Amino acid sequence: MMMCCLQTLLLLLLRLSGLALTAPTTQNIFFYHDFLSGNGNKELHFSGVELHVDSTQPSVSAVRGGSATMPCRFWYEPELSSQRDVRVKWSWLPAAGGHETDVLVALGSRCHSFGAFSGRVQLRQDFPGDAALVMTDLQLNDTGRYRCEVVDGLEDRSSSVYLELRGVVFPYQHPRGHYQLSFLAAQQACEEQGSTLATFTQLFQSWKEGLNWCSAGWLADGTVQYPITRPRVPCGGHGLAPGVRSYGRRHLQLHHYDVFCFSSSLRGKVYYLQPSHKMNLTEAQQACQEDGAEVAKVGQLYAAWRLTGLDRCDAGWLADGSVRYPITRPRRNCGPSEPGVRSFGFPPPQHKHGVYCYKSADE
Ligand SMILES: *[C@@H]1O[C@H](CO)[C@@H](O)[C@H](O)[C@H]1NC(C)=O
Ligand SMILES: *[C@@H]1O[C@H](CO)[C@@H](O)[C@H](O)[C@H]1NC(C)=O
Repeated sequence: MMMCCLQTLLLLLLRLSGLALTAPTTQNIFFYHDFLSGNGNKELHFSGVELHVDSTQPSVSAVRGGSATMPCRFWYEPELSSQRDVRVKWSWLPAAGGHETDVLVALGSRCHSFGAFSGRVQLRQDFPGDAALVMTDLQLNDTGRYRCEVVDGLEDRSSSVYLELRGVVFPYQHPRGHYQLSFLAAQQACEEQGSTLATFTQLFQSWKEGLNWCSAGWLADGTVQYPITRPRVPCGGHGLAPGVRSYGRRHLQLHHYDVFCFSSSLRGKVYYLQPSHKMNLTEAQQACQEDGAEVAKVGQLYAAWRLTGLDRCDAGWLADGSVRYPITRPRRNCGPSEPGVRSFGFPPPQHKHGVYCYKSADE
């Protein structure tokens, strides 16, 4: 278990920044000279030794609620006979855009984690030079580039790993209809449906997997785009190549679109409640409750369809008041010839349908 000792870290930081001000900087390869010599401990007193940092893989893929290990290791050339205390810092550049933020700083056996990462991250330290970051309880918005920086004296090397979540992107429209969502409303709509705003990387991946959608939607970076695999008029243009079309950045409050949400695995299950009779929306809510569950959210239905292969040719209520059903094996009388979650939109709440419920694994 790691302990946290900020004081020592701060001292070290002060020392490092002090040094950095007075020492010459070199971009690529830095060779030690006799600075800091004579301090007796394990301080630098050698030359021609070079620090290397490497991540063995460019990306790591995980699921919501799961854990991920972002590899990073450092070593010296030529090899050193004794181990040295280095400072390891992990930082994160969110896939959704924004600034690089601190995740964890460690010095020897001491470590401090920051903000939303507190209590969820650890440095692995399984072997000399191991600086892998172990992250648990992954959230949908943890995706992005994680950078491992190793500092020894004046030498500073880094390497990075991209964290992606396995999941599904789905287009979402407000109950009132087409193009009703400002950026903030879009963010909220995804959250209410058990998901988060999709990143461009996630939308692009879905497009490669065949997502063809003729309405523009917000992405996490504030741009508005739509994925087209079969261009035609008025959708993606005539005679143009397939691709993700972008309207670029739009005004976050003034402009209104649909949204692309991203959902990943569930700690629970989605199922079609076999009703003795069809139900209006209130009866559907009661039926799930009586079954120890709740009406499934749209993001939960998509995750179950995509990640566990849920296939059911019965339309059912969902939490947002829409009626949908998931098809993984397309067949006659179950909608189009491609797999997908079919939607009947938002029927009046007194209409009668089945219902999809969600039961959490914790209950
Ligand atoms: C990420 O998602 C979690 C859980 O939904 C939320 O509490 C947190 O505020 C989000 N973080 C950011 C940076 O949006
Ligand atoms: C659903 O039906 C019940 C009667 O079984 C009725 O009390 C309720 O108002 C109905 N709800 C809606 C939304 O129509």
